[in-house]
Amino acid sequence: MEDTEQLQAQVRELEARLAERVDADSFRRVVESAPYGMVVSDAAGHIVLVNPKAVEMFGHSAGEFLELRIEDLVPPRFRPGHDGLRRGFHGHPEPRSMGAGRDLFAYRRDGTEFPVEIALTPLNLSSGPLVLSSIIDITRRKRDEEELVRYARKLERSNAELESFASIASHDLQEPLRKIRMMGERLAALCEEELGEQGLDYLGRMIRASGNMHRLIRDLLAFSRVGMRPEGFQKLSLAGPVQDALSTLELLIEDNRAEIVLGDLPVAEVDESQMRQLFQNLIGNALKFRRESETPRVEIHGTIDEFEGIPIVRVEVRDNGIGFDEQYHDRIFQLFQRLHGKAEFGGTGIGLAICKKIIERHDGRIYARSRPGEGATFIVELPLHQKPSAEKTPREP
Ligand SMILES: Nc1ncnc2c1ncn2[C@@H]1O[C@H](COP(=O)(O)OP(=O)(O)OP(=O)(O)O)[C@@H](O)[C@H]1O
Ligand SMILES: [Mg+2]
Repeated sequence: MEDTEQLQAQVRELEARLAERVDADSFRRVVESAPYGMVVSDAAGHIVLVNPKAVEMFGHSAGEFLELRIEDLVPPRFRPGHDGLRRGFHGHPEPRSMGAGRDLFAYRRDGTEFPVEIALTPLNLSSGPLVLSSIIDITRRKRDEEELVRYARKLERSNAELESFASIASHDLQEPLRKIRMMGERLAALCEEELGEQGLDYLGRMIRASGNMHRLIRDLLAFSRVGMRPEGFQKLSLAGPVQDALSTLELLIEDNRAEIVLGDLPVAEVDESQMRQLFQNLIGNALKFRRESETPRVEIHGTIDEFEGIPIVRVEVRDNGIGFDEQYHDRIFQLFQRLHGKAEFGGTGIGLAICKKIIERHDGRIYARSRPGEGATFIVELPLHQKPSAEKTPREP
């Protein structure tokens, strides 16, 4: 009885103290309409005040609450240690959130549990210390988070399956195709007379078509392997992979009498062989989509900029070729999408899709600026440093 009187005195004092700063009505409205449960308890753990949200969350009536201790709102399996925790809080009463790094659960009247987040605020009254627990029910957030994790895992699995399927399929398709080409060539050599002019023409087309298919499968294999056998990231000057790409393209550069202008190229944390592949595709395109009337000129240079405090490496590959209409910008980075005629400019339409995949693996972006007849500039942006992540461990099929 004495206890109850003391508690009531505490609550009255609490209300009065708060009323000094805010008028009592406003205070009550805030407590009543708070979107989280509010439970005030004393140093011994007795509950002295609750708001309607707490009543709704826990299923106890306001009257029942005043008969309870704060431990009654904790699942029985966590109760044994709770006394000590409460004493610890009153020993150093400072506003803080409860259970840092642990999942917290609350206990309803009907014996069920629900996940919560709790903030503790000490309220110092002359009649004794109280603590305000503000409680948020995070059942929905937890469910959404779990759903998201499940979804991401599923996506990762199906991506990996798709990649290994593409890789295996394109690998296995190469062998029968090789046989078709080989037999076709033998037939053309051995049965030239029997086949006649028309027969040889048909056979020639078959052999050329299987040659195209061979290139298509080879490029598809390269595309599907971008995410599968990463060599890992290392800090290196991009001048290395650019030089490697230029030597691979040496013959093409000579045949076209192309002018290559190399500017500064910064250091970045990259997968070296993928950078080689990237620059080979971009410089190869710059040489291929040239204007007949003009000596092809390719400029390659890079800078380090900052975006929202993160250092970003930006490399530009600029040409003076035929260019393209920017309304098709997104299309050219998609698999098999080409804007220019196959007869004029050979290719399978995989090069830029590979570039995009490589850059996405590096957490960067690739885009282009161009106008028909006015050359094109491809811009690659990469973070200077790679953040460690799970994807960066090799994924074998
Ligand atoms: N430097 C460029 N200038 C003008 N158009 C370009 C340039 N680079 C790419 N394109 C356009 O984008 C399309 C897609 O390029 P992508 O490199 O993916 O394919 P491709 O070069 O045609 O074939 P592949 O690279 O597989 O041999 C090209 O067909 C071309 O229409
Ligand atoms: Mg290309």
